[in-house]
Amino acid sequence: MQPQPNSSPSAQVPLWRQLQGAASILLAVRDGQSMTPALEDVDAQLRPGVQALAFHALRWLGRAEALRQQLAKRPPPPEADALLCVALALACGEEAAPYTAHTLVDQAVEAAKRSDATLHQASFINGCLRRFLRERDALMALTEKSPLAVWNHPQWWIDRVRKDHPTQWQDILRANNSRAPLILRINERKTTPAQYVQALLAMDIGAFLIGEHGVVLTEARPVMSLPGFAEGHFSVQDAAAQLAAPLLLEGLMAAGEGQSRLRILDACAAPGGKTAHLLELADCDVTALDIDARRCERIAQNLARLGLQAHIVTGDASRPGNWWDGQPYDGILLDAPCTASGIVRRHPDVRWLRRPTDIAQLAAIQARLLATLWPLLKPGGRLVYCTCSVFTAEGEQQAQAFAADHPDAVLMPSPGHLLPQGSVKGAVFPDNLMREHDGFYYAVLEKRSA
Ligand SMILES: C[S@@+](CC[C@H](N)C(=O)[O-])C[C@H]1O[C@@H](n2cnc3c(N)ncnc32)[C@H](O)[C@@H]1O
Repeated sequence: MQPQPNSSPSAQVPLWRQLQGAASILLAVRDGQSMTPALEDVDAQLRPGVQALAFHALRWLGRAEALRQQLAKRPPPPEADALLCVALALACGEEAAPYTAHTLVDQAVEAAKRSDATLHQASFINGCLRRFLRERDALMALTEKSPLAVWNHPQWWIDRVRKDHPTQWQDILRANNSRAPLILRINERKTTPAQYVQALLAMDIGAFLIGEHGVVLTEARPVMSLPGFAEGHFSVQDAAAQLAAPLLLEGLMAAGEGQSRLRILDACAAPGGKTAHLLELADCDVTALDIDARRCERIAQNLARLGLQAHIVTGDASRPGNWWDGQPYDGILLDAPCTASGIVRRHPDVRWLRRPTDIAQLAAIQARLLATLWPLLKPGGRLVYCTCSVFTAEGEQQAQAFAADHPDAVLMPSPGHLLPQGSVKGAVFPDNLMREHDGFYYAVLEKRSA
C-alpha cells in the first residue's frame, strides 16, 4: 500500500516531537536512504504527523536550503541543519498549516533543546527562524533567482526534464510538487467502480470515477477504514498504472478467442499491483516473477486479500535459464526498474536521492531485460514495456531503440509518455476523465508471426 501523504499531523503529539521526527527523515534521505523504510523506524503514534511534515519538507527542500544559505553561509552540523531546513520549509510553504508561524518557531527551538545532537544549536536556530519571519519577503525574493528554490528539484533534474519535454517541463515540475490524491482500482471480480462510489458516498466519503477501473477519493484516509478492504474490493493504484493490464490484454484476448488460457509473464511483479489487475480482468495463467524474495511475499499477501492466484516465482528476469519452463508466453508485462521520476508527487524523496548517472545505468538494465525477455514471447504475442518515469531514456528512446534492433518487433499504437497531472486544490475532476495521474511510459510491442 502507498503511504498516505495527506494525513495531517496528529493533534495529540506535540509539534516539537513531530519536527524532530521529520528532521530525522530528512537526515536519512540526505544520507541516501529512502523515506519509506526511514518512516517505518518512527514510533507508530508519531508516524502520521511526521510523515505529513516530512512530505511537505521534501517538497520545499530546495527553497528551504536556499533560504538557509541566505541566513547562514556555513551550515550548522547535520542534525541542526535538518531541523532548521524542515522548519524553514514549513514556514515558507504555501499550504495552510494548523499552527501559526510563531508557534512553529517556538516548537522548532523546543525540538532543538530536547535533543543532545541539537541542544547547542538551539539559539542559532531561533535566530535564523526569527530573522526569516522578520525579513520573509526580502529573503524569499533573494532566493527567486535560484531554480533549485523555485522548482524544488536538483538542477540536473530540472535540466533533464527541460531537455526531454521542452514545452511541458514546468507543468511536470509543478505537478511533482502537488499532493497526489488517493486512487483506488476496483476489483471487478467483486464489485464495479460505480457501485463502489455509491458505497463510499453512502458513508459520506467523496469520490469520482477515473478511467475504466478507478476511483479517486476527494480526501485521503486510511485504506483499512474504507468499505470492502479486507474483502478485497479494491487496491491502491494510481490511474496511470491502471492502464498496464488492459493494454496487454486488449490485443491478446481478441487474438486468442476460443483458444486455451493465456499464459502471461509479469516479469517485475512485486508487490503485485499489475499482476492482480491482470487476474481481475481475465481468466489467465500469470507467472509473477520478481528478483526480491521479500517483495514476492507481498505479491502473495495482496493476491490472497483480493481472492486471486498466480504462480509466484523469485528470480532474475535477465536469467530465464534459472526459472523459465521453456513454454513461450502469449503476453509479457515488463514494468521495469526505473528512476521513478514519474511518481515524485507520491515519493517526494526520489528527486533528492537520484544521481544523474542513475538514468543511464537503469536504461542499460531496462534494455537488457527487454532483449532477454523478447525470445520468451510467442510469435503474434505482445509485450508491454512500462516505467514510472518521465525521462525519455527510460521510455520513448528505449522503445524506439529496441524496435530498431529487433526486426520482428512492431511498435503498436501506444500511450507513450503520460506526464504527471497535478491535482489543483479545489478543482473538480470530471467523472471518468484521465485528468489525475502519475507520470508513466507505455509501449506495446507485438511480435510478428513467422
Ligand atoms: C516498478 S516495480 C514493479 C511494480 C509492480 N509491477 C506492480 O505493479 O506492483 C519494479 C520491480 O522490479 C523488480 N526487479 C528489479 N530487477 C529485477 C530483475 N532483474 N528481475 C526481476 N525483477 C526485478 C524489483 O524488485 C521491483 O519489485
